[in-house]
Amino acid sequence: MTALKMTVDKNNRISKINKEIYGHFAEHLGRCIYGGIYVGEDSPIPNTKGIRNDVVEALKAIKLPVLRWPGGCFADTYHWRDGIGPKENRKKIVNIHWGGVTEDNSFGTHEFLDFCEMVGCEAYVAVNVGSGTVQEAAEWMEYMTSANESPMTELRRKNGREKPWKVKYVGIGNENWGCGGEMNADYYSSLYKQFHCFTRGAEQQIACGPNGNDVNWTEKMMKNVGPWQMQGLSLHNYTVPTNHWQHKGDSVKFDEAEYYNTLQHTWFMERILKDQEGIMQRYDNEKRIGLIVDEWGIWTDVLEGTNPGFLYQQNSMRDAILASINLNIFNEHSARVKMANIAQMVNVLQAVILTEGEKMIKTPTYHVFDMYKEHMEADLVYSNCDNRELEAKDGKFPAVSQSVSVDAEGKMHITVSNASLEEDFEIECLMPRAEYKNASAKILTAKYDAINTFDNPDAVAPKAYDGVALDGEKLTIKLPACSVVAIELC
Ligand code: AHR
Repeated sequence: MTALKMTVDKNNRISKINKEIYGHFAEHLGRCIYGGIYVGEDSPIPNTKGIRNDVVEALKAIKLPVLRWPGGCFADTYHWRDGIGPKENRKKIVNIHWGGVTEDNSFGTHEFLDFCEMVGCEAYVAVNVGSGTVQEAAEWMEYMTSANESPMTELRRKNGREKPWKVKYVGIGNENWGCGGEMNADYYSSLYKQFHCFTRGAEQQIACGPNGNDVNWTEKMMKNVGPWQMQGLSLHNYTVPTNHWQHKGDSVKFDEAEYYNTLQHTWFMERILKDQEGIMQRYDNEKRIGLIVDEWGIWTDVLEGTNPGFLYQQNSMRDAILASINLNIFNEHSARVKMANIAQMVNVLQAVILTEGEKMIKTPTYHVFDMYKEHMEADLVYSNCDNRELEAKDGKFPAVSQSVSVDAEGKMHITVSNASLEEDFEIECLMPRAEYKNASAKILTAKYDAINTFDNPDAVAPKAYDGVALDGEKLTIKLPACSVVAIELC
């Protein structure tokens, strides 16, 4: 076991960790909405207003803070009026981006916002900029959020909802540099400002930001749009195991070399945040505009035998380590990163939940969200850990990644992961002036390619862990290879 030293200063508070950093994304794509969230009121699968009860319960358990909908690329093809009113009258459309399948619009505005209320999360709605109009977006916002008399609110009442819903965030388009209209930054920023003037009713308006580390897009957006016009700038970045979009790598069959390469690639998130924050800082040093990482996660080839347009992939212990690294990075950058939404919540990409008919499983990534949930709304405090460099084909990266926060009751939470497949670590953690009496911990560990299946749903699941020992201001953490550990000190 290799000894490492860590220092934590509980009095050195860096930033508040917004709960929305633990956010999710659900698109009309494959089986995310249909089958994954919504099964219809007549389904034999237990549901409330057509929404799966098992999924609601699982999401409540991780305290899901915010959900982004209806896309993704789908958002810029979505016309909200198609998804309201009696289901039998709803228009059927072709989902042009995702498999060309028929979308019957049985899950629309009411179903989404009711779902958010059932889960107890904030709603983040993306309006259609690419193929929609300003008026359409303005009326949608009024339909959802206004309490006054108007044709839109009358229509909402006629459709069964008296009170307005709370929509905390509105996204103005999605990937408008790509599937959302192939615009350039100058054109989009003018369009953004026009939409911004009329899409009222949400607390925060979020603009489309860069593709990965596109600094030019961010520079133009920050120059052209001010903090009184946007409260957030979104950013999308996926981790592709091979870094080749044609052959991304398998979600189940991969070797140790690909495991290491995937994790090396995921650390690019840190580079991106540093570069993007640097630009934002020059225009907004008071950090009034949040960086909103509203799509992130691992993107592999689809699971063998499944529809290529449905982006269904399995989820392994590798993905749990990847999630822990990214969440630690977001915590570390929480002075600027105000929201992050893993893509996607159910049955698509790095899903936390997989379903098959009436069966539902929690993936290893789900368990990481569960173990990290105590960081939400807590203060990030200073921590520094010695590290070991791991070597992947495409470069080096750190073995250990950690975050430490202190919550409103004064409890400390430490999350730490070890990406090495060979080396166990014993971390001696010094915490000057910390006065805790008890330490308890959980661990998630398994073979790097272990997965949960419908026949074996708990192959990768957290367990209580006795590998931590508290002695006054010193905490000793045994950190096995390929593991994530969450510790509470009180
Ligand atoms: O999450 C899948 C797709 O990835 C989204 O629709 C799009 O925004 C991104 O390119």
